This record gives sequence, C-alpha cells and structure tokens, in this order.
Amino acid sequence: MLNPLIANVANPPAIVLAAVATLLVVLVTSVRGTGWEPTTDISEEVLERRAAAVPETEFPEPGNRAIGGGGGGGAIPAGGDGEEGELEEGGTASSGPGDIPEDEVEYFEVEFVKQGETVELSNDQPILEQGEDEGWDLPYACRQGQCVSCAGRIADGPSEDFVEHDNQQMLEEAEIDDGYTLTCVAYPRDSFSIETGEAP
Ligand code: FES
Repeated sequence: MLNPLIANVANPPAIVLAAVATLLVVLVTSVRGTGWEPTTDISEEVLERRAAAVPETEFPEPGNRAIGGGGGGGAIPAGGDGEEGELEEGGTASSGPGDIPEDEVEYFEVEFVKQGETVELSNDQPILEQGEDEGWDLPYACRQGQCVSCAGRIADGPSEDFVEHDNQQMLEEAEIDDGYTLTCVAYPRDSFSIETGEAP
C-alpha cells in the first residue's frame, strides 16, 4: 500500500492544478510587467556637456583637431603682424657685434705682424675671415670661439680695447688683458697690430 503523502503528490489532478496555477502567475506577471525599466541613454547629454566645457579656439578646423597638428598647418601666419614679427623687425634678439647696418660699417688699419702687411679691416666681420680674404693661411678649428686654435695677440694692450668678441668662451680675463684674442669671433673696433698663431 502506498504512503498517503506520496499518493497525494502523485495525484494527477493535483499536478494539473499546480501547472495551471504556475501558468496563471506567469501570465499575470507578463501582463503587469516587472516594474523594471531600461536606464535612460544619457551619452548624448554627457557628450554635449563635455563639448561645452572645452574652450573654443580660433584655429580653423581641422587644424586644431589633427594629431600632431599642434596649431600648425598655417594656423599661425608666418611673418604676420604678431609679436614674433615685431621682434624680428626690431632685430635686437639676435644682434651681435657683426650686425652693423651697411651704412655704418667702419674700417680700421690692422697690421698683421707675421705676414708683414697692413690692411684695412671692416668692423662687421671677424679678423680671421678678413685675413683669409687676403689669402693668408691662418690657423683655426671650431670658428665659434670654443677652442684657441685661432688665437692671436695684440701687443698694445687688452685685446678688448681693440676688438669686440662675439661669445668667446675660452679666454680668461687676464689673458684678454694680456692682449690675446680669438680671431674667429673678434671684430675690429680700432686700429692695432696683431700677431696671429699666438695662444696664451
Ligand atoms: S677657431 Fe676655435 S676659437 Fe677660433
């Protein structure tokens, strides 16, 4: 004889009843809905807010968006009326002892002792260059005031009484006072005698 509980569970009408009840619950739930709603799509709104936070530039598109554009591509007019243009016009940023207007160039008598000649040198070119223009084989290496290969000596006193150096980096004050000069970066400012190939 079957256990009454098992007999009850296995009762076919009860199983049918349970299935109908389950179907009813599913039907009612689907008709009413679960109350869940999809999240509102705010991506457009976020994008708009971000765009508003980025300051507008005056660069034309697409130059200010291109990778590596960096505002280039003609965004800044070359030789325009900006500050840089004014600086260039002023000509003060890169002026050196050789930047002398053509109508202000002066000439001085310079005796090259070892060559046995006196020549006129202008004040807008280094002594070395002008000596080479005479055809003399004068010593040099860097031509930038960074060695002493081109050194010479002005016997009459401190060399800077007679020449202006353009960024010489090798001679010490005492050596300059002793008359030494780096001819590759020395511009005549007076007449003098010089012995080339003389280093301190
Ligand atoms: S050549 Fe080097 S300092 Fe003149």
